[in-house]
Amino acid sequence: MAVNYDETTGIFTIQTEKSSYQMQVDRFGVLLHLYYGGRVNGPMDYLLTFQDRGFSGNLYDAGADRTYSLDALPQEYPCQGTGDFRSVCLSMENPDGTLSCDLRYRSHKIYNGKYGLPGLPAVYAKEEEAQTLEIRLEDEASGLEAVLFYGVLPKYDVITRSVCLTNRGTEPVVLHKASTVCLDFLWGDYDLLRFYGRHAMERNLERAPIAHGMTSIGSRRGASSHQYNPFMIVADRNAGEEDGRCYGLSFVYSGNFKGEAEKDQYGQTRVIMGLQDELFSYRLKPGEAFYGPEVILSYSGEGIGKLSRNFHKVIRHNLCRGKFKEMPRPVLVNNWEATYLDFTGEKICEIGRQAAELGIEMLVLDDGWFGKRDSDSVSLGDWVVNEKKLGGPLSSIVERVNAMGLKFGLWVEPEMVSEDSDLYRAHPDWAMVIPGRRPVRSRQQLVLDFSREEVADYIFDSLCRVLDSANVEYLKWDMNRSVIDVYSALAGCAEQGEVLYKYTLGLYRFLDRIGRRYPNILIEGCCGGGGRFDAGMLYYGPQIWCSDNTDAIDRIRIQYGTSFGYPISAVGSHVSAVPNHQTGRSVPLKTRGAVAMAGSFGYELDLGKLTPAEKEEVKAQVKAYKDNWKLIQDGEYYRLSNPYEPDGLGAWEFAAEDGSEALLTVVALNTHGNPLTSYVRLKGLRADGWYRDEAAGKMYEGRALMEGGIPVPHMEDEYQSWQMHLRLCGER
Ligand code: GLA
Repeated sequence: MAVNYDETTGIFTIQTEKSSYQMQVDRFGVLLHLYYGGRVNGPMDYLLTFQDRGFSGNLYDAGADRTYSLDALPQEYPCQGTGDFRSVCLSMENPDGTLSCDLRYRSHKIYNGKYGLPGLPAVYAKEEEAQTLEIRLEDEASGLEAVLFYGVLPKYDVITRSVCLTNRGTEPVVLHKASTVCLDFLWGDYDLLRFYGRHAMERNLERAPIAHGMTSIGSRRGASSHQYNPFMIVADRNAGEEDGRCYGLSFVYSGNFKGEAEKDQYGQTRVIMGLQDELFSYRLKPGEAFYGPEVILSYSGEGIGKLSRNFHKVIRHNLCRGKFKEMPRPVLVNNWEATYLDFTGEKICEIGRQAAELGIEMLVLDDGWFGKRDSDSVSLGDWVVNEKKLGGPLSSIVERVNAMGLKFGLWVEPEMVSEDSDLYRAHPDWAMVIPGRRPVRSRQQLVLDFSREEVADYIFDSLCRVLDSANVEYLKWDMNRSVIDVYSALAGCAEQGEVLYKYTLGLYRFLDRIGRRYPNILIEGCCGGGGRFDAGMLYYGPQIWCSDNTDAIDRIRIQYGTSFGYPISAVGSHVSAVPNHQTGRSVPLKTRGAVAMAGSFGYELDLGKLTPAEKEEVKAQVKAYKDNWKLIQDGEYYRLSNPYEPDGLGAWEFAAEDGSEALLTVVALNTHGNPLTSYVRLKGLRADGWYRDEAAGKMYEGRALMEGGIPVPHMEDEYQSWQMHLRLCGER
């Protein structure tokens, strides 16, 4: 049993293969957090200490006992108004306008399988793969009920968390903050690893101590954002890639979020993850329920590399859905950087013809195929094929492309509207604009109010007309601005704080409908590249365009940061032209290929401009990717270097889970006169195995490569790369 409740002590114990999580219903019915970490068997309530502490108030029920204070005790779901002055999960306004809530234990349920969440993405599992614990708490005064969900997937050392808040009282209450998870650590010094960035430079790693004072990351942009990813790691100060204790928190949500970390006055650390409380309030009428989106937690006592691999597996196998989740994804060519908006149907077919010759499997027609979209300031919302530009209906292009042996994919940006569009002229009130104010424009476009079903349904129907007209097998789902003017004509004035949450739910409903109606369409998420690269989107489509930056050297850092929380199979990655359109840098084709292969692989350039020699190289790359697909997507991913270090290398490895083969990639990020020799240590091999370097034929002992490392062959120029494919030949 993964979940156990001991009635005599009131202790809940959750066990995964290598971690334990404990909490206790204490004598007052408060749900205290006892422990999260490496596996233990006994009760951990001995860790709690009680002291009379000034200015830390005492629960009334404790009577004259001045040592019981929720300002100091570790808790599962701390609320404002109980004397806990740290950041809390729940802040609720009562019918009388006061802010207070005091949740106490009422009951619990344990069952096989994994809970689901209505309208929200969540990890799923077979009956025998998972267990669920639901703990029901209640605030007696208001009647607010909180059900805390714990989904346990022992083999990945994963515990998922969610919360359902139901108003069981007789008058409305208002939620001002409703986070999903709180992790309290009684002692220790921790670092917070967060992934910050900007458009075209997402998910840079920053690691810094959790100190006194609040550190918070988050988004107020309506999407999870380029600026902070909704994934963070709490690690022991000395935890590294291969050793040390660490915890990951991944928010399965694509809208506004907040992650918080603080060391408190008593040297304890509190970490919170959930919905952003700014721009949020939610009015719960009697009988209504509100679901806090899921957080995936994982613990590793074997370093951050193992923690990442836990997330890779649970996301790949138990969050992504649909027939493509574990299938080889087609190698694609996208016309965006080849033509931008300036193309004809003929030009697209020409790219397709070139692609087919090189073994590429799918052609993706990006922005510009609809309305009168020859510039990016017009026509969003008018999802009608521009037959004049394409030289005929979409089906005529798709049929030609299919006849070349290629699949066909299409770009869409359903959540947006251009002011210069038939849709906006007919329904200006469908755009999010605050009455009496002028909206903030971004990329000259406005955001459609997807919290309104009629708006989303209209777009759904117009997209279906296009998708039904031709054999489209892939959709690139884009979103190219942040939400600023938060307003919905359908919401009353007391409900405007709900709009962004309902917008995200509207988006999920839409994606779900598309997925069910077109199970054979592969969906790739996108938001100006990686502005909505989160576990929530991966529930609806198994891959996301990782960044609008296709420069291989910048991509090494972007993909490095992304790899901490997301599997390789989720990372859309393409080879583009040189000099690169974002950075002006020229990187050899071999390196561009090697970097893009650490993802769902494709090309994004005018194939017709390649020299015959380059075409041969592309052919070989496509073949190599297809040959190694299983190893890359299913293999264990190892970060072998930190590409942020001055003079650093880009070095990573895919190793088959059974150690039968491995693919090592190393990229030189710098060059110097009289260079030093660089070495890398391999990982994930069989210590006693003998491996053959497939290209050079040389044999190595697995243990030797993992202990002694291997010298990286001297590279003459910067940005050159080296790949070594090792195959197990025998064991000692
Ligand atoms: C975004 C995407 C790009 C491209 C353009 C089209 O920026 O990230 O890949 O699709 O939109 O307008």
